[in-house]
Amino acid sequence: MSLLIGVPREVFAGEKRVATVPDVVEKLIKLGFRVVVESGAGELANFSDDAYRVAGAEIAGSAAQLWSEADIVFKVRGPSDAEVELMRAGSTLISFIWPAQNPELMQKLAAKKVTVLAIDALPRQLSRAQKMDALTSQAGVAGYRAVIEAANGFGRFFNGQITAAGKVPPAKVFIAGAGVAGLAAIGTAAGLGAIVRANDTRAEVADQVKSLGGEFVKVDYEEEGSGGGGYAKVMSEGFQQAQREMYAKQAREVDIIITTALIPGKPAPKLITAEMVQSMKPGSVIVDMAAEQGGNCELTVPGEAVVRHGVTIIGYTDLVSRLSRQSSTLYATNLFRLTEELCKTKDGLINVNFEDDAIRGLTVIKDGEITWPAPAPKIPAAAAKPAAAVAPVAKKSSHGHGEPSEPMSHQKMAVMFGIAAALFWIIGANAPAAFLGHFTVFVLACFVGYMVVWNVKPALHTPLMSVTNAVSSIIAIGALVQIAPPLTADISRPDEVIRWLAVGAIVLATINMFGGFAVTQRMLAMFRK
Ligand code: NAI
Repeated sequence: MSLLIGVPREVFAGEKRVATVPDVVEKLIKLGFRVVVESGAGELANFSDDAYRVAGAEIAGSAAQLWSEADIVFKVRGPSDAEVELMRAGSTLISFIWPAQNPELMQKLAAKKVTVLAIDALPRQLSRAQKMDALTSQAGVAGYRAVIEAANGFGRFFNGQITAAGKVPPAKVFIAGAGVAGLAAIGTAAGLGAIVRANDTRAEVADQVKSLGGEFVKVDYEEEGSGGGGYAKVMSEGFQQAQREMYAKQAREVDIIITTALIPGKPAPKLITAEMVQSMKPGSVIVDMAAEQGGNCELTVPGEAVVRHGVTIIGYTDLVSRLSRQSSTLYATNLFRLTEELCKTKDGLINVNFEDDAIRGLTVIKDGEITWPAPAPKIPAAAAKPAAAVAPVAKKSSHGHGEPSEPMSHQKMAVMFGIAAALFWIIGANAPAAFLGHFTVFVLACFVGYMVVWNVKPALHTPLMSVTNAVSSIIAIGALVQIAPPLTADISRPDEVIRWLAVGAIVLATINMFGGFAVTQRMLAMFRK
């Protein structure tokens, strides 16, 4: 019997998101599940009960009915005490939990003998986890919305315009912290035509800032700000002083500041002082995205928009809910991807497989036993955070099996050269001169091929393939010449061995050419909408 996925209405005050949307309901049903949605669950995100019904879901009249029937419950916010009471032993809950911050909730859930998958506990460093990464999808929405809120509170255009009524300069936007939310804000503000500047303690994000149309403003103080895994560390007092001076200068120059600076588990760093606010032009706007963690600005009031010294300071903590249809859709897709991982057999049943690093990381309670924190994932893969994706890579080359390969040692190289020279000498003494010429080209080609492929990062192997396709066509032409009958009677016919070697060369080159094109097509298809 396939399992029943239940989606209750969110009860947290001001929460407008819903954990699944009608389009995703259809996909869940295709995976073999049945879906029940509490009446009105999608209302605040503009998804009606009818839309869920059309997609194939049943509608539950009350939360009590839903919690009592569902085998798996999808939620956005962690459950309230009343919801925990409604939970059924043996059922599974998938939602945000924040186990480190909510030890009491964890105890209550464990006592209920349920299994809990905390979407916030996903090991984000696994590249496979990106499709399930709700923290990233939601922070991206928040960054976008922060710019929209700023534009709403700002009395001018974002882009520069020359009109009959006069020239309008573009707005200047400064973004503090270029993590997921910060980068989304940079892209959105640049898209609206503003001049965008950004700063982060992790210098490695400078390229990403530039690629989104922003300018990276450095702090005039040498200190590496990366604390590992794409997150920041607390900086020295010297750095903080230099940073304050730079931020003070930016505050005087820009019209809008959006702050997103955060170090996980720490209160938000105070980057914008009251004096900086005072020095801003009247009508300027600050959006403090870190308001919930205490704020990056001294004058922020969490959850509110206030005006101080003529500057509007927005401290909304519900930016994601303010774009609830979009954030719900992305969140629902994240949960669907997770469900696919849990139900590889597509039979509407789930397997919480502890051998799977991503599933192990997410599972904070298994059948009433607290299994959080999970051990670090076994296979370190490409970092999920975009910031870490461009982190300086080790100088070592790598040959694509996830393990960095050691470059060939000098001794090994000398031995190989010795063997090659001996072989040449033996062949040179016995083989005909024409063969020696071909053999030399063959050995050099092997050597050059080896050096090229082994020194290219695995991430670049696909583009490399396009080049090798071109090389393969040269091989194919050479081989065809060998197979073809001689053009004049003067040229002696190639013997049968050469002919068959040439046939083999054509077969291998053809695999490379067509295989390469097929892979390139597949790769391009991923980028097509
Ligand atoms: P993230 O960890 O990806 O980014 C934070 C960035 O701040 C990192 O790049 C880090 O290097 C940088 N940073 C840390 N200390 C800094 C300092 N002293 N100076 C400059 N940069 C510094 O986090 P994410 O996901 O981008 O979230 C950013 C903030 O937005 C968080 O505070 C998060 O809670 C908040 N947020 C707020 C929402 C709302 O509705 N208000 C919704 C979603 C996220």
